[in-house]
Amino acid sequence: MEENEKIRENFVHLARIALSERQQDVHSFLHRIVRRSDDAKLSQELVELLRQKPTRSSPLRKKQEMALPVDADSRFQLLRVEEHPELPHEPVYTDALKGTIDRLIDERKNSGALFDVGLEPTRTILFTGPPGVGKTMTARWIARRLGVPLLTLDLSAVMSSYLGRTGSNLRHVLDFAKSMECVLLLDELDAVAKRRDDSGEIGELKRLVTVLLQQLDDWPSSGMLIAATNHEELLDPAVWRRFEEVVHFDVPSADAAEAFISSLLKGFMPKADAWSEVLALSLLEQSYSDIERKITGARRGAALNGKKLSDHLVPLIAVDSQTKQQKIELAVKLYAEKLVSQRRAQELTGVARDTIRDRLNADNES
Ligand SMILES: Nc1ncnc2c1ncn2[C@@H]1O[C@H](COP(=O)(O)OP(=O)(O)OP(=O)(O)O)[C@@H](O)[C@H]1O
Ligand SMILES: [Mg+2]
Repeated sequence: MEENEKIRENFVHLARIALSERQQDVHSFLHRIVRRSDDAKLSQELVELLRQKPTRSSPLRKKQEMALPVDADSRFQLLRVEEHPELPHEPVYTDALKGTIDRLIDERKNSGALFDVGLEPTRTILFTGPPGVGKTMTARWIARRLGVPLLTLDLSAVMSSYLGRTGSNLRHVLDFAKSMECVLLLDELDAVAKRRDDSGEIGELKRLVTVLLQQLDDWPSSGMLIAATNHEELLDPAVWRRFEEVVHFDVPSADAAEAFISSLLKGFMPKADAWSEVLALSLLEQSYSDIERKITGARRGAALNGKKLSDHLVPLIAVDSQTKQQKIELAVKLYAEKLVSQRRAQELTGVARDTIRDRLNADNES
C-alpha cells in the first residue's frame, strides 16, 4: 500500500514537470529515481534513456531556472518559452511578404554591416491581419531561422485573470526578455485595448499602456519584439506609432493558396497539382488555417474509410461566392483535368455542360 502511494506520488510529480516542459527538472527527477530505486531493471532502463537524451546546457535554461517571470500572487507562468521553436510545416507567403520577412531576418544576420554605418536592425514590429494567416507562426519561424528562443506573452491570458498586477507583470516580463538574445512575441496585443470600455480598470490600463510605450521606445536591438493583433482598429494610435515597422498579413492570394494546398496534398494522391489549382479557386478568401483544417479533415476521412482522397475533396468545392467567370473556369478545370465527369462538374458548379464544352473547344482551337 505504502509502495503504491509512493509510486502514485512520483508519477504525478513526473507528469506535472513534464507537462510544464521543464526538461531539466525531468532529468534531475529521473536521476534521483535511479539513485534511490531498489529495482535494478527500472534503474537500468532509465539510465539508458537518460544516456540517449542528454541535457544540453544552454544559457537560456540557466536563466529560466533563475528567473522565469511568474505572477507574484498566483505563480502563474507569464511567458511561454520555446528554446527551439518547432513548426508543423514551413509557412507559405506571397512574394511581397516573403521579401519583408527575409529582410527582417537578414538585418539580424548581418547586423554588423548596419552597425558599421551607425544603424541598427529593426527592433519592434507589429503584425496585423485576420485570424489564421500566420502571425504567430511567423514569429516562431523568424526565431527558428535566427536560432534564438521564442518567448511568448499571451496578453489575452494575462489580461483576463491578473489585471490588478498586469503593469508590473508586463514590466517584469519585458525586462527578462530584454536581457537576452531572443524573439519576444506579445500575442493578442488588442487584449490591452479591448478592456478600454471597462471604466473601473482605466487607471490600471493607462499604467499598462505607459509601460508598453516606454518599453517599445527603448527596446534593445539585441532582441526582436513582435506584437500581433487581429484587431488593429482597437489599438491606441500612440501604441501603433511606436512600432518601427508594421507588417500586414492576409488571407492567401490564389497563387499562395495553391502552393499551400499543393504542399498538403503532394505525395498523398495522384493529380495533386490539378486538385490544388481547383481547390485554390474554390477556397478563395479563406485563411491558411481554415484551408489546412479542411484538407486535413478530408485526408483523415480518406484514411479512415478507405475511399479515395479525391472523393473527400469534392465536397470542398464551393462556388457560392464566385463570379460567373470563376465558376466557368472551375468547371472547365475540373472536367479538362479529368478530376470529375462532365456531369459532376456541372452539378458542382452550376455551369451548363454546353458552356463547358464550348469553352473547351474554344481553348483547343486557340
Ligand atoms: N502563411 C501560412 N503558411 C502556412 N501555414 C499557415 C500560414 N498561416 C497559418 N498557417 C496555418 O494555420 C495555423 C494557425 O496560424 P497562426 O497561429 O499563425 O495564425 P494567426 O495569424 O496568429 O491567427 P490569430 O490571429 O487567430 O492568432 C498555423 O499553425 C499553420 O498551420
Ligand atoms: Mg496568433
